[in-house]
Amino acid sequence: MQSKISQYTSEIEAFEPKTAEELEAFRIKFLGTKGIIKDLFDEFKAVSPEEKRVLGKVLNQFKQLAEAKFNDFKDSFSGESQNKADGEDLTLPGEGFELGGRHPLSLVRKEIVEIFKRLGFVVAEGPEIEDDWHNFSALNFPEEHPARDMQDTFFVAPIPGENVDQEKKGEYALRTHTSSVQVRLMEAGKPPFRALMPGRVYRNEAISARAHCFFHQVEGLYVDENVSFADLKQTLYYFVQELYGEGTKVRFRPSYFPFTEPSAEMDISCTICKGAGCQMCKYTGWVEILGCGMIDPNVLENVGIDSKKYTGFAFGMGIERITNLKYQIKDLRLFSENDIRFLKQFQTEII
Ligand code: DAH
Repeated sequence: MQSKISQYTSEIEAFEPKTAEELEAFRIKFLGTKGIIKDLFDEFKAVSPEEKRVLGKVLNQFKQLAEAKFNDFKDSFSGESQNKADGEDLTLPGEGFELGGRHPLSLVRKEIVEIFKRLGFVVAEGPEIEDDWHNFSALNFPEEHPARDMQDTFFVAPIPGENVDQEKKGEYALRTHTSSVQVRLMEAGKPPFRALMPGRVYRNEAISARAHCFFHQVEGLYVDENVSFADLKQTLYYFVQELYGEGTKVRFRPSYFPFTEPSAEMDISCTICKGAGCQMCKYTGWVEILGCGMIDPNVLENVGIDSKKYTGFAFGMGIERITNLKYQIKDLRLFSENDIRFLKQFQTEII
């Protein structure tokens, strides 16, 4: 029995399981209910009392050795109880996480706002669900006038149970332009006004590379005594130089908006070909970036401002358009599809 134990002892000492299965086989062989240790204890019962004194100690040590070996390896094969910190270098730097970046439209909006802030403009906002008065009537769009068709409107039903002015029932719409914020601002205060109004606008258009059912605008408003078209031109000229770089040319073309008189559209020399002619400017050398004009006296009167005393100018531009010209993006849909491969290209600035 002694020699058997010493033979098994060296076997156990040399045992190095590589897998959980090997360890389990070891357990069954030595510690199992029909295992070697059980057999040895059975044999032990039959030996003489003198032998028992010596052998008992040897046998118990042998059993402890087998159990210790099994316990040593048990943990390393059972995933859950594995102590993760063991063997890991806790002094290594942690895994960094990627910071997000601003959306290109937010970057450009921020840039526009910052340029006008330097001229003393403040930022104002208004609701996206707007009533007919603020979106159209106060802005001098006559009832049933075709000018209302310039902007395909999404009309919205009032929310059931909402406390809605019965007269205005059915007259709510998603705002078609940020010009509605001009009205709210002027109604709520007294001149002078010098404000910039960025926001999302909606039009009932089929989605394509060149049109979308929602987009973003920035509206500008300047009302005071003695504001002239020269102020309008100089303000917008400064804006263009700051945004697109010195030397960018501007030109004004007569246009029509119900809320301004005279009205104009402003073009800049093409940012891509610098006027030589390319696809972006359709080989004209110029690209339109905004609408503007002197605020129609009717609008001032509609919001309770004395049009004999005050004059003002307004302008409105699409942020997508400004961004396209800055970054040469040809498909409007990219702005709202959240394709990370597109958005990552603008991570120039950390939030
Ligand atoms: N609201 C016009 C549009 O959405 C843009 C615009 C034109 C705004 C002239 C103005 C303006 O304030 O003076 O097409």
